[in-house]
Amino acid sequence: MSKFDILKYLKTDYLGREIVYVDITDSTNSLAKRESNKKDGTIFVANMQTAGRGRNGKSWISKSDEGLWFSILLKPQKNVSELSGLTIAVGLAVLNAINKLAGVKAMIKWPNDIVLDGKKLCGVLCESVIHDGICECLVCGIGINILSESFDEQISSVATSLKISTGKEFSREEICAEILNELEILYFEYLKNGLGNLIANYKENCITLGKGIVLISDEGKKDALAVDVGDDGELIVIINGEKKHISSGEVSVRGIMGYV
Ligand code: BTN
Repeated sequence: MSKFDILKYLKTDYLGREIVYVDITDSTNSLAKRESNKKDGTIFVANMQTAGRGRNGKSWISKSDEGLWFSILLKPQKNVSELSGLTIAVGLAVLNAINKLAGVKAMIKWPNDIVLDGKKLCGVLCESVIHDGICECLVCGIGINILSESFDEQISSVATSLKISTGKEFSREEICAEILNELEILYFEYLKNGLGNLIANYKENCITLGKGIVLISDEGKKDALAVDVGDDGELIVIINGEKKHISSGEVSVRGIMGYV
């Protein structure tokens, strides 16, 4: 990968205008946190991660030359409690960029897994760095399987790549730049007006809605029906006839029959 090729496709004013590219690192999210003194909008891209991290304490397999593994450092002048919907905006930007460039009709599994052919193509991990109760910055990490031709046995039934699903090889740099191009617009909209103008587009593309799902948390598993997404991006479900609002930090969601 080359950072000059990312810049070639970039149309943003500030997202990705500073790029830290490394061939190998533990996790680009961890790298971004260690280098959080860098400018707002800096991105950290790696060809390979040795300790890629996923949501809910899971690991994220990030082999050399197979995918786009990168993190965006954001310094919004807001309290972290006002930013809970940001992860939804990031998921939507990633979805729009992939569908546009790859000509596919991927969907979002709440909150922000990107799903193609019923399998996971991409994951998003947004983390905040908090010092003395104040949010110093946010790190949004995005992992997309682009060129992988196969997966290790433990994830092969639930994971796909653009190469596997379309048979084509896409440029990781172009996808990276397109995500930033999309996100800059959605991010400014989100900071100004919250999810209000984005949520309809999100819901149209959310594969979880209207489905029977299993909510998995520390308390165990619960069957639910996913009925809506709220103004802050929370999933609205019905459990035992009762409406509940679920925030993405609390649970992971599975389909009744499998991953979706
Ligand atoms: C998920 O569990 O779905 C989230 C996966 C996020 C993976 C990306 S790859 C780039 C960045 N660095 C990490 O360690 N994780 C994120």
